[in-house]
Amino acid sequence: MNQHDTQRPPQFEEEDEIVQLDEKRLMLVCEQWKDIHLLSSLRRAVSDFKHEMQDIHHNELGDNDCVELSRTYLFNELDKISSSLTLERALHYIDRLIKGISEVRTSRLNDINLNRWKEYDDILTDSLWIIDRRDSSGVHTAGYWGNFIPQIPYQMMKRYTKKGDWVIDTFNGSGTTLIEGQRLGRNTIGVELQRRMVDHAKQLVSAEPNNHGVVIDVVEGDSATIDYKELLARYDQKSAQLVIMHPPYFDIIKFSDDSRDLSNAASVEKFLEMMVAIVDNVAQVLDKGRYLVVVIGDKYVKGDWIPLGFQTMHEIMQRGFSLKSLIVKNFEETSGKRNQKELWRYRALAGGFYIFKHEYIFLFKKQ
Ligand SMILES: C[S@@+](CC[C@H](N)C(=O)[O-])C[C@H]1O[C@@H](n2cnc3c(N)ncnc32)[C@H](O)[C@@H]1O
Repeated sequence: MNQHDTQRPPQFEEEDEIVQLDEKRLMLVCEQWKDIHLLSSLRRAVSDFKHEMQDIHHNELGDNDCVELSRTYLFNELDKISSSLTLERALHYIDRLIKGISEVRTSRLNDINLNRWKEYDDILTDSLWIIDRRDSSGVHTAGYWGNFIPQIPYQMMKRYTKKGDWVIDTFNGSGTTLIEGQRLGRNTIGVELQRRMVDHAKQLVSAEPNNHGVVIDVVEGDSATIDYKELLARYDQKSAQLVIMHPPYFDIIKFSDDSRDLSNAASVEKFLEMMVAIVDNVAQVLDKGRYLVVVIGDKYVKGDWIPLGFQTMHEIMQRGFSLKSLIVKNFEETSGKRNQKELWRYRALAGGFYIFKHEYIFLFKKQ
């Protein structure tokens, strides 16, 4: 659960269906369309093919290699071809579909095929995230007070890692990042102060299949002093490609009695000191040009808004990181606040303050 929030926010739209098709056959069909010299005949051929595709789900066209396509992407591309007003335009869309099927164009950072960029409806690219339903699939639950919604590590791993990359979560908690890492085929290591949470996270992760055969590990320790090099060396690795940090938002939730726990920091200054000690420590194993993500919210102290997020951001920017994005994400009120919505609204009106409805996701790139 969010540290200001006990309600499960909504999740993304239902996923688009992925169909597996015989790649050779698909390419052949496209090439044949290029030989049609009458627009009306081409439209008929495309329409027949689309009709045939309505009920195809997976590799029903033969035993050749498969290509995975989202049904929406395929149908959109087919519609583009058949709604073209000239043969020349239709040919352009046929070539685009051939390219989308046959060529993979990815960046250094992730596996997103830019030739089929329209398929990635699930990837957010706006700096404002209004997510009103939490992903509660599989073992994900909101049960750990202060855990983040799984969509956060999902988005970050999809955008800033490739399959097989190494991810470190310095504040593992209930293991939301580990669960997403396992599902997405990213090797993921978490560090957590509390033994009981280490055990809990291990239990959750082992209840789901490790389909990609990746390393999913969580160790008990203080992220400020743990030897990340040694941790990675256990798996013959020297570095990681993404770091995710979801610290306590200072003392909003007291996670333990451990003095090394950031929720027990004596002051905001001390909190920032402890936070940068962890950033410095983990930065040693993050590859240059790769990303460090910090998820954090602000808080009130005696009626004053303490911009913990921006203060943390400022500190990290002094330490060899450039700020690449600042995402504002919504969250619903806590169940306490929800039950007393009217009271809180009255208090806000009377006291001249605002009720917390957002937190930040800061994206830093290591220089
Ligand atoms: C906000 S929670 C993280 C929740 C996590 N993202 C999840 O989804 O479950 C912060 C966690 O950091 C842990 N923690 C606090 N200080 C730490 C430190 N110095 N090193 C490692 N873990 C720490 C707390 O015990 C708590 O579980």
